[in-house]
Amino acid sequence: MKKIEAIIKPSKLKDVQKGLKEAGIPCITVLPVKGTGLQKTYSEHYRGTEQSMILQSRVLIMCVVSDNNMEKCIDVILDNASDGETGDGKIFIYDVAEAIRIRTKTRGKEAIQ
Ligand SMILES: Nc1ncnc2c1ncn2[C@@H]1O[C@H](COP(=O)(O)OP(=O)(O)OP(=O)(O)O)[C@@H](O)[C@H]1O
Ligand SMILES: [Mg+2]
Repeated sequence: MKKIEAIIKPSKLKDVQKGLKEAGIPCITVLPVKGTGLQKTYSEHYRGTEQSMILQSRVLIMCVVSDNNMEKCIDVILDNASDGETGDGKIFIYDVAEAIRIRTKTRGKEAIQ
């Protein structure tokens, strides 16, 4: 199992969620976050704050998928989260040791599909 975290623009959330659902990945967790990436223009200022220190509003989408579904999940995010501009976001992948559905006490793949 893999945990996929994608930090994306809030305006892309609906399309990404729809794409994931259509790809058979309906279970997601979404958090509002603030962050900054690799800004190249360190000298610019806005209202006295250096551009690279300004935190942008983003959305973090988290989903745990089977190894088989990892590439599909990444493809959906890449296809739906991009404006082709800076600040489009990033995807991080982690190994997941276990998943347990509390209601049924089932573990592993059965708990997430
Ligand atoms: N290495 C990182 N670790 C943690 N969060 C990150 C990292 N890189 C980006 N983020 C998060 O993703 C958001 C979007 O990053 P962003 O797309 O601007 O990355 P970038 O490296 O600057 O790429 P780009 O040149 O396309 O803008 C940031 O606001 C931050 O919340
Ligand atoms: Mg950036």
